[in-house]
Amino acid sequence: MRRITVLGVGYVGLVTAACFADLGNQVICLDVIEEKIAKLKRGELPIYEPGLEEMVQRNAAAGRLVFTTDYAQAIPKAEFIFVAVGTPSGVDGEADLKYIRTAVESIARHLDGYTVIVNRSTVPVGTGDSTAQTLIERGKKQGVDFQVVSNPEFTREGSAVYDFLNPDRVVLGSVDAEAAEAVAELYRVFTKNIMITDLRTAEMIKYASNAFLAMKISFVNEIASICEKLGADVKLVAQGMGADQRIGAAFLNAGLGFGGSCFPKDVKALTYMAEVNGLHPQLLRAVMDINRDQRRRVIVQLRELLGNLRGKTIGLLGLSFKPNTDDIREAAAIDLAHMLANEGANLRAYDPVAMENAQRVLDGVKFCGDAYQVAAGADAMILITEWNEFKQLDMPRVYDAMAHKVFLDGRNVYDPAEMRAHGFEYRGIGRPLSGTTTDSGRQTTEEMATASVK
Ligand SMILES: NC(=O)c1ccc[n+]([C@@H]2O[C@H](COP(=O)([O-])OP(=O)(O)OC[C@H]3O[C@@H](n4cnc5c(N)ncnc54)[C@H](O)[C@@H]3O)[C@@H](O)[C@H]2O)c1
Repeated sequence: MRRITVLGVGYVGLVTAACFADLGNQVICLDVIEEKIAKLKRGELPIYEPGLEEMVQRNAAAGRLVFTTDYAQAIPKAEFIFVAVGTPSGVDGEADLKYIRTAVESIARHLDGYTVIVNRSTVPVGTGDSTAQTLIERGKKQGVDFQVVSNPEFTREGSAVYDFLNPDRVVLGSVDAEAAEAVAELYRVFTKNIMITDLRTAEMIKYASNAFLAMKISFVNEIASICEKLGADVKLVAQGMGADQRIGAAFLNAGLGFGGSCFPKDVKALTYMAEVNGLHPQLLRAVMDINRDQRRRVIVQLRELLGNLRGKTIGLLGLSFKPNTDDIREAAAIDLAHMLANEGANLRAYDPVAMENAQRVLDGVKFCGDAYQVAAGADAMILITEWNEFKQLDMPRVYDAMAHKVFLDGRNVYDPAEMRAHGFEYRGIGRPLSGTTTDSGRQTTEEMATASVK
């Protein structure tokens, strides 16, 4: 049993805290937002993450997971302090470290004995070194010794609990081998694949990993645009590429592009780090440009199909940046809602869990109780987030409810042949603009007949 404090009860902090408590450790969770802590004390979660609520409630009931806003309670007895506060984008794309600085200052004020400070937030390369320096100087004055370990976070929202318990690898960076080893011991129960590096390398592994995954998405989206022009089907192209073990199938789904609190912010921050060091990170810039264009292409397509969008009713299916989360940060749906509102369109929307968050940032959108209500009177529907409950919709019912029958499938969830057979003017991303090609790639009997006559 170790005594662990986690700073920040967001998507990263709460999962980290609950998973360590579940192993029998004594964990204190601290956040500066009183409302979040009050909710947690009542057994309610401030975020949606599958499997987390039960784990938090069970460990809180056992007394292993405690919530507070009081640094004086959370810091002094901790052996490990995990920092999981936000690092949003600053004005030029750089990571804004204001929350990290405040957290480090508060830690420094309350430390009273040897502690390992573990940074789980994504921070610019070099932050660990400067944090360590600040803390070590403060510590010397207070007669307290501490060490800093960088421990980048690789879990995915929507499956964060599973990912935490089953990591592909754990990366630890530190100047102090003993401190890194102490943190490694906390994780050994989950994996033997623990990599210990210096601080800067650990911080860079995080940025390079996210930039690479974002690049895969933008790559396949660029291929999708070319496929559309040349009449190839990107879904099958990606399947053919992904079967090659050197490439891998993950993150090769063409669609409306990436969002969320990490990829856009981290690619921008890495670009900024490269630029201030005199480099020209062209690939990273292209990754972001392609991602932005994926959203714009929707507007272009809708104009093609419906003409002027002023007064047209557009239905949005899904608001979170991906399924199984309520996180709407940098979500395609939010970008599209703003763009469509600028075009003068009327918007209707539904999401299984992200409506409350979306209502805070979207004005003038009619929020509906389900996909069929969204379809009522709509000129076009856009599938934006591939929640399971959208995968087997009663399409004849959707069709009947709509005023015009335009359906943009922003995640290539539906079978083009089936959708066209229902009567929709269907468009996927990077898929042939007409015809009856099925998801299996086989031509339909009708197509084969026409082809053989020719
Ligand atoms: N969300 C993810 O899936 C994910 C994945 C990998 C890495 N990360 C990184 O982890 C970090 C946290 O991300 P998140 O999504 O959990 O953020 P979040 O915004 O959901 O949560 C951050 C929390 O920190 C709290 N906070 C701010 N200042 C504080 C302080 N001084 N003391 C204590 N708490 C404070 C905030 O109130 C908030 O509740 C970021 O650097 C992010 O880039 C996130």
